[in-house]
Amino acid sequence: MRTTVVTGSASGIGAATAQQLRDAGHRIIGVDLHSAEVTADLATPHGREDAVAAVLERCSGVLDGLVTCAGLGPHVDDVTRIAGVDYFGTIAVVDGLLPALRAGRNPAAVVISSVASTHVSWADNPIAEAVTTGDESLVAAAVEAGGDYRGQFAYAAAKNALTVAVRRRAAEWGAAGVRLNTVAPGAVDTPLLAASAEDPRYGEAIRGFAAPIARHGRPDEIASLVGYLLSAQAAFIHGAQFVIDGGIDAMLRPTAF
Ligand SMILES: NC(=O)c1ccc[n+]([C@@H]2O[C@H](COP(=O)([O-])OP(=O)(O)OC[C@H]3O[C@@H](n4cnc5c(N)ncnc54)[C@H](O)[C@@H]3O)[C@@H](O)[C@H]2O)c1
Repeated sequence: MRTTVVTGSASGIGAATAQQLRDAGHRIIGVDLHSAEVTADLATPHGREDAVAAVLERCSGVLDGLVTCAGLGPHVDDVTRIAGVDYFGTIAVVDGLLPALRAGRNPAAVVISSVASTHVSWADNPIAEAVTTGDESLVAAAVEAGGDYRGQFAYAAAKNALTVAVRRRAAEWGAAGVRLNTVAPGAVDTPLLAASAEDPRYGEAIRGFAAPIARHGRPDEIASLVGYLLSAQAAFIHGAQFVIDGGIDAMLRPTAF
């Protein structure tokens, strides 16, 4: 039986992923604020340390898979917390569990980023310095320039930094025998999207978000891609980002990829 960690397992994409993997025979160690095998707050350094330690104890230091789904959306006003979970919390788990993944069988990790990762470039990313130095206290000041829309600004910045961080780990993780990829969803029907759609700042844009496949994605559709990327069929896929968005990125930016 494969042992796989899923963060954000209590809701949305994480819950669908945990369920599909359980159905495929994985033993799941879920990590979330509540309703999970490991409860921890990935927004705080302490919470991240506790999460990694509790997972290592439960898996006895050996993991076959990792999927990071825990995240906060742009509607959250505390911009430091958005980057705290979506970037710093995710990377702490990814790096903290690498030794256990190295000890696993055909190990692989999938990081849920977002199409928002392409909405800012690394050169213009306001939290590039904070993530490069690991100084989380710089984040709030760095995204203040986003004004009323600083939540979206922080979200795109955190997801851009996350995809860059994964790509930067391709050489080390490949040499370690652990595959690492990102999945970048567009709009997917989850509580996070519903909360953003109810926000007066973002609601109209989200409701008007018309992809060529004219509907939102379903969590189980993202989970299916994640399951494939974790599987032996994906053995040569490493360091890549997979957009799964009903075609909206191709429609809006056909020459940028
Ligand atoms: N839904 C979308 O349209 C969409 C689009 C692109 C990317 N994403 C990404 O997909 C991932 C999953 O989002 P979702 O839409 O399923 O959202 P969701 O709100 O349904 O699930 C997110 C989960 O993360 C957990 N979480 C939040 N803060 C946490 C913390 N501090 N510590 C531990 N767990 C925490 C929540 O409790 C929740 O169970 C996120 O990273 C999100 O950015 C979602």
